[in-house]
Formats: sequence, C-alpha cells, structure tokens
Amino acid sequence: MTDTAPSLPPLLPAGTSGIPISLVAKDGWPRIEAGLDAAQRTYAGAIGFAAKPGQVALLPAADGTLARVLFGLGETDAAGHDRLLAGKLPGLLPPGTYAFADAEAPAEAALAWLLGSYRFSRYRPAGPERPRLVAPEGIDAADTDRIAAAVALGRDLVNTPANDLGPAEIEAAARALAERHGATITVIAGAELERDFPLVHAVGAASTRPPRLIDLTWGPADAPRVTLVGKGVAFDTGGLDIKPSAGMLLMKKDMGGAAAALAAADMAMGAGLRLRLRLLIPAVENAISGEAFRPGDVIRSRAGLTVEIGNTDAEGRLILADALALADADAPELLIDFATLTGAARVALGPDLPAFFTEDDAFAAAFEAAGRAAADPVWRLPLHAPYASLLASKVADLNNVSGGPFAGAITAALFLRRFAPSTKGHVHLDLYGWNPSAKPGRPEGGEVQTARLVYALLKERYPAA
Ligand code: BES
Ligand code: MN
Ligand code: ZN
Repeated sequence: MTDTAPSLPPLLPAGTSGIPISLVAKDGWPRIEAGLDAAQRTYAGAIGFAAKPGQVALLPAADGTLARVLFGLGETDAAGHDRLLAGKLPGLLPPGTYAFADAEAPAEAALAWLLGSYRFSRYRPAGPERPRLVAPEGIDAADTDRIAAAVALGRDLVNTPANDLGPAEIEAAARALAERHGATITVIAGAELERDFPLVHAVGAASTRPPRLIDLTWGPADAPRVTLVGKGVAFDTGGLDIKPSAGMLLMKKDMGGAAAALAAADMAMGAGLRLRLRLLIPAVENAISGEAFRPGDVIRSRAGLTVEIGNTDAEGRLILADALALADADAPELLIDFATLTGAARVALGPDLPAFFTEDDAFAAAFEAAGRAAADPVWRLPLHAPYASLLASKVADLNNVSGGPFAGAITAALFLRRFAPSTKGHVHLDLYGWNPSAKPGRPEGGEVQTARLVYALLKERYPAA
C-alpha cells in the first residue's frame, strides 16, 4: 500500500459518452423540468422530485434502461449549502459511465465525485464496481485527478492501523512520493536523532519501532522556499501519561498531519508549481516501555531551549518543535505545519473545521480565502501572547503543557511559535483528520484536511511556469 499510489478510478476522457446527470439547483428546476419528455416529467413528479439537496431521480427510457439522472442541489446560495454534495452520487448510482449535463460548478462537482468514490479496501474486497464519471468539458481534469489521488493516498495512510503503519512505513510513503516526483530525501533515524533532534528521539524512545526525521526537498534551489511540516505520530498511547481507552481508540490517526502534508506536497509537485518545496515529517510512535520519556524529564531541544515534560501526552508539539527549528534555519517564505495536536481545538471547532494560527492578519485573510475557494474550510484562532506565561517552568525554559484547563489549542500554538521565531510566514494547523460520520465526498474514517486549501494557496502564489 505505501509503495504505490492507491487506486482511485480517475475521470474518463472528456467527450466519452455517458448517462447524463443534471445537477439541479432549486431555481434551475423549472427549466430542466421543461426539457424532459412527458413520461420523464410525469415520473419526476410521481416520485416528488423537487431538487432538494441530495435528492436523486433515475429516469428510465421507454425501453426501461437508465436514460438520465437528476440530482438536486437545493438552494446553492443558502448558508448551509454543501459544495461537495455531488460526492454523494457515486454511492447512489449503479455502476456505469456518467457525464454531467448541467453543472454550474463542474470542476468542484467532479472533484466531489472522486472524493466520494474513495474506499479503504486494504483489508477486505472493496465491494461492487464504482460508477465512473466523464471529465466535464473545460475543466482541468488532470488537476482534479491529481487532487483526488493525493487525498486518497492520505486517507489510506490515516486509515491504516498502527500495526501496519509505524514510523518506517511513514518513511516508505515519503520515499515513494519522492521517487514519483524526483525529489531528494534524507532520513535520520534511531540513536542518531539524539544529538540533533533530541525531542523526536525522546518521544520515540519507548517504541520498538525507531523514530525518524524525514526531510524531502524538491524544485529549483532559487525558487521561493515553502516548507511543510507534518506531525507523524503513528500511534499515540499518551506515553506514561497514558490515555484512557476511549481517548486512545482513534489514535492511529495521530499521523493525520503528516498525511495532509504529504498530500499537499503530492499536489504541489504533481502540478509542477514554481517553488522550492521542503517537507519535514518527524515520525514516531508514542509508546510505553522502560525506555519511555517521563513526566518531569527536562530535554534540551534542537533550538537550544530546555523543555520540561509536564505531560508525555503532549508529544506532538515536542516532535514538531525540533522539526520547526530545522525549518526556521533556512528562512522559508512560507512555513506551514499540520498536526492533530489538541483535543481542545476539536472542542472549540468540532471535527470538520481545523483551527489555524498565524500572526499575520493579511496572510490569515488569504489563507481563509484559499479555504473557501477549495471548499476546505478553516477557522482562525488567536496566538494570544499573554497566554505564553501558562507554559512557564520552574526549572526549564518552558513546560510542554500549561497546568490548567484553559485555551489548550492556543497554548500549544504558542509553544510551537517559540521554535520558529524568525519565520514570519508561519501557519500552524490543528486538525482532526477524521470524519466521525459520512458526508458527501467525505466517507467515514480518515480524512485529509487542509491539503486542498494549501495547494490552492500555493497554486495561486507560485503558478507552474
Ligand atoms: N493527539 C493528541 C490530540 C488529539 C486528541 C487530537 C484527540 C484529536 C483528538 C495529542 O497528542 C494530545 O494527546 N494532546 C493532549 C494535550 C494535553 C496533554 C495538554 C490533549 O489535547 O488532550
Ligand atoms: Mn498525545
Ligand atoms: Zn498526539
């Protein structure tokens, strides 16, 4: 699984004939209804088709074959309108070849279709064949396929349980990506981390599967530098500050940041954007053994700051701290870290809305706009500087946790900022990486959040030559 791209059926070439699907907004229904033949109009009326969101009508031809599909979009300018609604279609339609006949936003609908076609099939056969979509005329089908394939790759990584996806398999996935795009990659693993990446070493020390720092570089050396960093915790037991079972159940997804960073890098490299891309993934398993790091330990980080361990379950910020210190040293124009970092961000914003942090208001607006453009939304939380005092330690430069229950996502973000002090264009993303229930284009299970947003932003800033 980790050494080849996953199979997500791509769009069929534009112009291939397929059963027409009309994506019908509420106010467009009368026009489309008027274009149906009498029997189809009667049938649509008989089943009460009214272009409600997600409503479907399979219209037969006189000979009983499937002639045409109507799919309701509801009011497309309503506040609750789901832009990925067309992602429901692959689950509703019988196998076959389909083509959008009327679509206001064909590229987005085609992407939603592909995102909704994803299935995690590593451990059992995937079930019936999926319906296929013909690329709508005029869209960049290669780009749509590229985005969907990268998301599928990331979802596969998140969905793969930790017994089959440890730090070495995260490395293998990064190596496969590097090979596919002609990137160079270096990896520092195990005992060799102790000197230069002491926090990565400490967090990964308890596991029989050695930790590593994965460092991938791609693109011309003189292009603008963009660095992506992803939290790659293959499994988070909490360490000696062990999680209760309910809190541990989903922790195979604690490499969701790494999956998102890999997916964003896959998109950017595949599109040939004009940038010098660096991808850093600290990959560890936060396990428990006699080698485990402990509450009260003090560790001198790569950046030189000493960190007192207040809680071994706040491991993500530790491994990211060393990776961010490395990233900070070559002064990237943009530094984006992706992490399933805090339960607090989920309490604040729920599973579907990743939190982002940046000091730059203008950049924050651009970041949010890219999220809207890509139907990959985020919400800004403040880097409220006075809360940094909550991370005070009596013996070290800082503690890895605040003693109290307040502002957990913000204190985590402030902790990270200490390790990339000279990079102004830094965005920290605190994401969930999981769909607790299925929504159109977002099957239940592992999710790649914010990669499409970041790709949209990079594409706009550093277009391919
Ligand atoms: N991986 C978790 C954060 C997490 C938990 C994300 C649940 C999404 C869902 C992280 O390593 C963690 O354990 N964070 C702790 C920090 C605390 C000890 C300060 C948390 O959020 O409870
Ligand atoms: Mn943890
Ligand atoms: Zn974690």
